[in-house]
Amino acid sequence: MASHGHTPAALAEADQTATARAAAPPAHVAIIMDGNGRWAAARGLPRVAGHRAGVEAVRRTVRLAIEMGVGCLTLYAFSSENWRRPVAEVLDLTGLLRHFLRAEIEELHQRGVRLRVIGDRSRFDEDIQRDLVAAERRTAANANLTLVVALSYGGRAEIVAAARAVAEAALAGRLDPARLDEAAFARGLSTAGLPDPDLIIRTSGEQRLSNFLLWQSAYAELVFLDVLWPDFGQPHFAEALAEFARRERRFGARPG
Ligand code: IPE
Ligand code: IPE
Ligand code: MG
Repeated sequence: MASHGHTPAALAEADQTATARAAAPPAHVAIIMDGNGRWAAARGLPRVAGHRAGVEAVRRTVRLAIEMGVGCLTLYAFSSENWRRPVAEVLDLTGLLRHFLRAEIEELHQRGVRLRVIGDRSRFDEDIQRDLVAAERRTAANANLTLVVALSYGGRAEIVAAARAVAEAALAGRLDPARLDEAAFARGLSTAGLPDPDLIIRTSGEQRLSNFLLWQSAYAELVFLDVLWPDFGQPHFAEALAEFARRERRFGARPG
């Protein structure tokens, strides 16, 4: 006799569950936007042309995330290690950031995007720091999409900063170390209050995290795409979401 799991009713129910799973987009998608330099090199262009095209891909991706019902989108725009690049490229990248903040915030606001920046913003020029604060304030009440931009971000530095805060609280007698748990520790990370990423996409074919969201990625599904970031668009986003929908997430529990 067929087991309970194979009765027509059970099959229909399983089918519905699968459909529901496929239909529900991940609440938080994080993207390692990689491959700008290779995109430019393939066209005989300077790297900055790749970064400019990368900004276009950012605009496209924000619109797509809203359309696809993603609640939170984190974009890795500049790592704490990217300061090691040649000065001219760092200047190009910070210049593009400055321009983006002046040219795009109004449109993001109109689209109902709430901007939040993570990373060591103190390393940027003061005018950029001011524009970051202004953009976060201006968009703070928006609810269509939370756009987290990781700038001068490094996962290890973030964890060390949280550990330092915890150590200082303990020294000052404000925290009993025995009572520190994961949730309390996570409140000291720059992502406090955000859900962990369900899906992390990396473009350009590289298969590594490069110091991105090390704590938060504990149970993220990882999808590596062979597209270079400036070419990322609707088909690639859809492909990543479809791949996510096929994954069975277990969180260490026994497969159901
Ligand atoms: C990603 O593209 C942008 C940043 C890291 C700032 P890259 O500049 O890393 O491009 P590739 O990896 O050299 O192609
Ligand atoms: C990761 O890309 C950082 C960003 C996309 C902002 P990198 O190009 O800096 O990473 P590696 O050096 O290839 O690991
Ligand atoms: Mg790269």
